[in-house]
Amino acid sequence: MAMQREVGVGDFVLMDKLDLESFMRNLELRFKNGRIYTYIGEVCVSVNPYRTMNIYDQNYVEQYKGRELFENPPHIFAIADASHKVMKQQGRDTCIVISGESGSGKTEASKIIMKYIAAVTNQDSFRNPSGQKEIERVKNVLIQSNSILEAYGNAKTNRNDNSSRFGKYMDIHFDFKGDPIGGHISKYLLEKSRVIHQQPGERNFHCFYQLLGGAGDDVLKRLNLTRNPDHYFFVKQGNAHKVDTINDRNDYRDVVSSLNTLQFNKDDQDLLWRVVAAILHLGNVEFDIDEEKLILKKSKAVDCVADLLKVEKRDLETALCERVIAARGDIMRKEHTEVEAAFGRDAFAKAVYDRLFGWIVDKINAAIAVDANNYSKNYKSSLIGVLDIYGFEIFENNSFEQFCINYCNEKLQQLFIELVLKQEQEEYNREGIAWTNIEYFNNQVICDLVEAPHQGIISIMDDACKMTAEKVTDEMLLEALDKKLKGHKHYMSRQTKPSEKNLKHKIEFRVTHYAGDVTYSILGFLDKNKDTLFQDFKRLLYNSKDANLKAMWPEGAQHISEITKRPPTAGTLFKNSMQALVQNLQNKEPHYVRCIKPNEIKSASAFDEERVRHQVSYLGLVENVRVRRAGFAYRQRYDRFLKRYKMISQFTWPNFRSGSDKDGVRVIMDENNFADDVKYGKTKIFIRSPKTLFALENARNALIPGIVTLIQKTWRGYVAREQYKRMRALMVMIKVYRQKKAREYINALERKFARAGSMRDYGKSISWPAPPLSMRESTKTLRKIYNRWRAQKILERIPRSEWPQMKLKITAASVLINKRPEYGVNRKWEGNYLSTHMENNNYTVFNEAVNNLKNTKHFGNVLFSSYVTKFNKFNKVAERVMLVTDQAVFKLDCEKFRNMKEGVAIGELTGLSVSPGHDQLIVLHCPGSNDLVVSLHCLKQEDRIGECVGVICDRYFQIRKAELPVKVSKTISCSLGGKQKLINIQVSAAEEKATFKKDGNNVAYVLPSNFSIVENGNNHIKQ
Ligand SMILES: Nc1ncnc2c1ncn2[C@@H]1O[C@H](COP(=O)(O)OP(=O)(O)OP(=O)(O)O)[C@@H](O)[C@H]1O
Ligand SMILES: [Mg+2]
Repeated sequence: MAMQREVGVGDFVLMDKLDLESFMRNLELRFKNGRIYTYIGEVCVSVNPYRTMNIYDQNYVEQYKGRELFENPPHIFAIADASHKVMKQQGRDTCIVISGESGSGKTEASKIIMKYIAAVTNQDSFRNPSGQKEIERVKNVLIQSNSILEAYGNAKTNRNDNSSRFGKYMDIHFDFKGDPIGGHISKYLLEKSRVIHQQPGERNFHCFYQLLGGAGDDVLKRLNLTRNPDHYFFVKQGNAHKVDTINDRNDYRDVVSSLNTLQFNKDDQDLLWRVVAAILHLGNVEFDIDEEKLILKKSKAVDCVADLLKVEKRDLETALCERVIAARGDIMRKEHTEVEAAFGRDAFAKAVYDRLFGWIVDKINAAIAVDANNYSKNYKSSLIGVLDIYGFEIFENNSFEQFCINYCNEKLQQLFIELVLKQEQEEYNREGIAWTNIEYFNNQVICDLVEAPHQGIISIMDDACKMTAEKVTDEMLLEALDKKLKGHKHYMSRQTKPSEKNLKHKIEFRVTHYAGDVTYSILGFLDKNKDTLFQDFKRLLYNSKDANLKAMWPEGAQHISEITKRPPTAGTLFKNSMQALVQNLQNKEPHYVRCIKPNEIKSASAFDEERVRHQVSYLGLVENVRVRRAGFAYRQRYDRFLKRYKMISQFTWPNFRSGSDKDGVRVIMDENNFADDVKYGKTKIFIRSPKTLFALENARNALIPGIVTLIQKTWRGYVAREQYKRMRALMVMIKVYRQKKAREYINALERKFARAGSMRDYGKSISWPAPPLSMRESTKTLRKIYNRWRAQKILERIPRSEWPQMKLKITAASVLINKRPEYGVNRKWEGNYLSTHMENNNYTVFNEAVNNLKNTKHFGNVLFSSYVTKFNKFNKVAERVMLVTDQAVFKLDCEKFRNMKEGVAIGELTGLSVSPGHDQLIVLHCPGSNDLVVSLHCLKQEDRIGECVGVICDRYFQIRKAELPVKVSKTISCSLGGKQKLINIQVSAAEEKATFKKDGNNVAYVLPSNFSIVENGNNHIKQ
């Protein structure tokens, strides 16, 4: 929802120039731009828009919820919220007094307030669902009760199509959380004369037309009604039963639905409509005189009434035609005159309706009464009172009812004056600020004119009613008024002021009300004040077979002869109720909504200057602004003021730290040179001229965009920091989690390997648990560590001197194991076999020759030596010595042990090939075109292939840091003279010793007969 642009001045207090004209200009400007609400300080002036305004939806509720008045454009929501806030925060009872003339929008305002309160309460219902149900029910009843009360208490008048014809004050009780828990409705003086009479253009109460227009045919049949209102005298006099703005059919449906919600049971609802129907029939009862005797015409109507009210027809007829008088112990029957009978009928109709209305209000109250079981007696609930009472009205013909209504408005205006002035004055006193009085019209004098004991109009009326000796007439009452009130500034009649020619002699009197002159017709005043209902009717209804109806008339139980005390008059009852109401309101913190009617034609655009000016004048709105501005246009608590304007000064922005809030406010005002225009109260600052406030507002507005950017920046920073923190926290959590997992894994390993040291295989057979994801890499290291440890354990048992040999054996094993069954692992590997006499008789020659070689070829030491049979590229077999040194492999002759050729550097070798059998064939694959193809032999006939492979591979690894490829295969291929040849292994009895032969293009490796070839297995097995 876009924030509405402000039009004119939102608070009249802030107007630069204040007089009625500028007030009017501002009000009109705002009205024409759809701004129907404007403040006077904390009073809300509301102009009836006469159109549906799109300003009450949930978005608006959110905008105003919990905010201060000045934070948002003026709205009635803000008043409702302020009232709710005071009540909730300070536990103080508050009230919202809605005033204004008929049709100005009071009832609508009260409904808007109720809906707002319903919308902002019970928001944390999810925490207490059972409580929520009750609160929702209460809210529902409070809201739904409106349609019932309006059906029975509102009517179309010439001022308003939905005019409240009763005063309504509703207390809403709240629990400590500020949620509504119940309520109570008080009603004031229902205009019951409307039941029997309507002025031209007006209607009876809505319910009559709703029943005729909305009820089903079956219902109407049961009630003996026809649909046409023109058939019933009590609803046709105004000749206005069709109203454009009213849909009686739909309203009937709404009322029935609300009755169901409010738990009016079937009998209750039946009664409601039966009474309405009975009154319609009653209006058609007529009397006639036949031979000087009063007779009833239209006896069918009487039948219907008796039937509907569940009374005996005969009793009803009697009650309509005569009355019982008890005098000095005798009981007499006195027949009515025709006029008396008609008066009795009308009084009966009015009384039945009035009691029914009272009963409806009682039933609603029962439905919303605060449940004593739920809320302990010790607990004090707070409440908000909402007053929506009939507005000041002037009709063509003003009678007793208008007199009461206008008196009520005088009382409320008086209350307004008192409270607004009192509050103001008190505030200045409290704050220690000097204050000068403002002139305003105090209407106390009019209140006195009506209500003063002995001298007031009500009292004079009562006196007249008490006179029984002679027949008192309305004319005599007017005379009494004239006599007592002659000379009163606000009272006149033709008698007291003969020059007022338009006042009817002996009929009219005029009261100058605060809101204007009203001329009242005295006719009917006495009767209406006495409010007589013959006892006979009370007895009649007390004897009704309808229990509800009977209960409405308890006084009917009195015996005929019982002398009853004269009941208080209607005027006195009303006066008392008004005084009680005012007292009640005085004890609450008031909030005001002042409603203004912009025109008489219900137009959404017309702004009738004269009408509005009149209302603004009599409501004293300009005076209200003046009082408010008396000396000071604006005041605010220091803390709030500082909060709102602290950005204006560098000393107070972002926070003022060098003193109290008051000091902070002073800093702002001094810095901006406003010091002359303000006074400092104890808790509030008072600003004299609106200009200052404007200047402050403007300065603030100029800074707001920058602050918005700052807030956005800060906010974004905050969001980013929060996200960063969350991420970090996440990382920590992940880390901790991983650590925990790792610890668990390590612990599991510890447990598993606890006894590995004492196991035979040092835990080799133990299966490792699956590592957590984060430990996969480290597990490789752990395994390495374990393997080292295990190797260590194994090696511990082997003397250190054997470790080099061990290493060689492991190297050999790693390439030969499972490929070659025999590779001499169980034997001690001597290496340089030819250097001792054990295998070489010429070992000294050998050693010397090797030493010489060492000097020329620069190797370190000899790793392995053996006699070999060699096969070359010329298919020649030769006996040689193979000498493996740490650098190269040499071939030596067998006598002098001289080097035959350049040796082959170990690092240059490209691979080794051996067979999977027991033979001693080994091929050293060399880089050039000739491999070294030899068969080892020794006297001991032991396997030296393993040792030879181990020595060469180990050395190769040391030199090249890589594994030398070793192939174990029964067909070995070799390169001799640049040709690839296969070495086929054969056995021949002719040979005593392994040797080579040319075998076509290949080579035959011929073994002596102590070998045999086994196909599908190792190719040659030593026998
Ligand atoms: N805020 C509003 N939005 C739209 N229409 C409104 C608003 N206020 C009043 N009206 C219109 O004005 C009509 C009269 O208003 P309402 O009945 O509240 O007057 P009232 O002051 O209660 O009069 P009375 O004293 O006769 O009861 C309503 O029926 C409605 O059509
Ligand atoms: Mg109303």
